[in-house]
Amino acid sequence: MTAFGTGEERSGRAGGKVILLGEHAVVYGVPALAVGLERGVVARVLAAETEGHELHVAGWGVVVRPSDGTDLGRAFMALLEASGPAVLGRPRVVHAHVELPPGGGVGCSAAIGVAVARALDPAASLEHVMLRATAWERVFHGNPSGIDVSAAAVGGCLRFVRGEGVRTLVTARTLHLAVGATGRASSTKVMVERVAALREAEPARVGVSFARITELVATAVAALAAGDLEHLGEAMNENHAILGTLTVSTPELDELVAVARGAGALGAKLTGAGGGGCAVALASSEAHALEMVREWRRAGFDGWTSASAARQTDASRLYPAAARP
Ligand code: MEV
Repeated sequence: MTAFGTGEERSGRAGGKVILLGEHAVVYGVPALAVGLERGVVARVLAAETEGHELHVAGWGVVVRPSDGTDLGRAFMALLEASGPAVLGRPRVVHAHVELPPGGGVGCSAAIGVAVARALDPAASLEHVMLRATAWERVFHGNPSGIDVSAAAVGGCLRFVRGEGVRTLVTARTLHLAVGATGRASSTKVMVERVAALREAEPARVGVSFARITELVATAVAALAAGDLEHLGEAMNENHAILGTLTVSTPELDELVAVARGAGALGAKLTGAGGGGCAVALASSEAHALEMVREWRRAGFDGWTSASAARQTDASRLYPAAARP
């Protein structure tokens, strides 16, 4: 086998995510539920000679350099610095192939960070990969809870608590999901700041909302373990209504949710930061998920399906938190 540096290339992969319950509240320590998506990011590190580090994002026509003054450049620099001198001191060309919409609420930036961290240093532990991707993510989001990076790095069905870590969940049934896209990118940072302002202006009302989301997550974890998708779906519907009161939904997101429910979704809600981005719907089968995507297309939106495989019974595990509490 050729040694790296004489023709071999390294690669790293990470998945996107949808949040089934708890976005925004999770920033303040409320538990959240997420599911890793099959779509994600593949990063390849070429063994070519280069003067300085470069990150090429195929499909976006973007070439990023650590000192180019862009957010992507700053994030790349933060990731390289967090990776230590062995990675920082050996310039590499990284190519990222991204299958997720940027600003779509499905964890695109975190998946790039995790995939690039893995490709640059395949021997890095899961914890180190999460720390490096968190350094990348902070440039975009200022105050990330860590759920996106955790979901990108760990995958599967997850319960996440800021500062505590991420626990993979035992699910009795495969979750068939449909993800519908508004086609409008939104900034997680801006949406998180909007909820922060609302929380400051109306602490009691927002506190009640967060307390209810805590209950919904507890109900949903039990429902997942029992294979009770109806109760999981009901919790998602209620969470969407709460997110509306937190002013992060939009007419397009509400329409995506209404179309999915009209097509018999067990539950449907916006997912991620809101203000644009995507909605997620829980289907009863793969065929049902495809039917919802067809209905979205008829209504002028794009969408795709994703399934979460049922976990083995001993798969529940706590991974440490990478983000600062
Ligand atoms: C973004 O995917 C989820 C938010 O809760 C932000 C965060 O947790 O960092 C909106």
